[in-house]
Amino acid sequence: MESLPVLRRCAWQSRRRATSPLFLDFLAPSTLHRYQCRHASTDPGSPGSSKPRYVLSKKQREFLDSALRVNQAGELAATLIYKAQTPQVVRSHPHLRPLMKHMYDQEAGHFKTFNQLIAKHEIRPTAMYPVWEVAATFLGWSTAALGREAAMACTEAVETEIGSHYNDQVREILSWEADAQRRGEELDEELKEMLSTFRRIRDEELEHLDHAVANDAKEAKPYDPLVDVIRLGCRTAIKISEKV
Ligand SMILES: [Fe+2]
Ligand SMILES: [Fe+2]
Repeated sequence: MESLPVLRRCAWQSRRRATSPLFLDFLAPSTLHRYQCRHASTDPGSPGSSKPRYVLSKKQREFLDSALRVNQAGELAATLIYKAQTPQVVRSHPHLRPLMKHMYDQEAGHFKTFNQLIAKHEIRPTAMYPVWEVAATFLGWSTAALGREAAMACTEAVETEIGSHYNDQVREILSWEADAQRRGEELDEELKEMLSTFRRIRDEELEHLDHAVANDAKEAKPYDPLVDVIRLGCRTAIKISEKV
């Protein structure tokens, strides 16, 4: 498992490389070129496949572009929140060390996955990257300072928003798959793999949510304002990172 500085360096390397506005290599530009030449929404498909490949529209590629940018930013924030929370939580509740490590390790794995996808498809990371680094570290540190319950309430709030965000992405790609089936086509293998990655990560985020609730997130004081503010912050950060 790479350390956080290594993961962040990978992200910055991808940031330097990713300057083109929209380039998802498994979908474009050769595929797009054929699409434009033939005015058709299909491609002959990969060798060995009996069905033509479903070619994404510009709008669908833009959706993936912004989804991957948001996901990378979200996973960066998650790793920093846990990193900032862990020392304080573990100091007062040593029995939580394995759980905090487990959640951090999963977040670091998610972050690595999106760093690789961002670099591979030459997607521009969010310009808000340095701001989210500071905000996430502050959120982790301040909730842990309020106590174990507040730290867990932070996880509950963040994972509720992130889990539903991944769910929206999964639902969207499933609608493309249904559209492809209606046309007698099939999704690109890499897109199918991305769908299963999103599903796995969504399930792991929801597992974190369950851990937080099982560890007294709802005992945080004041629970409602804390969770509401963090959830609002997450939704705002997602909206901004989609565009900026
Ligand atoms: Fe994550
Ligand atoms: Fe998570």
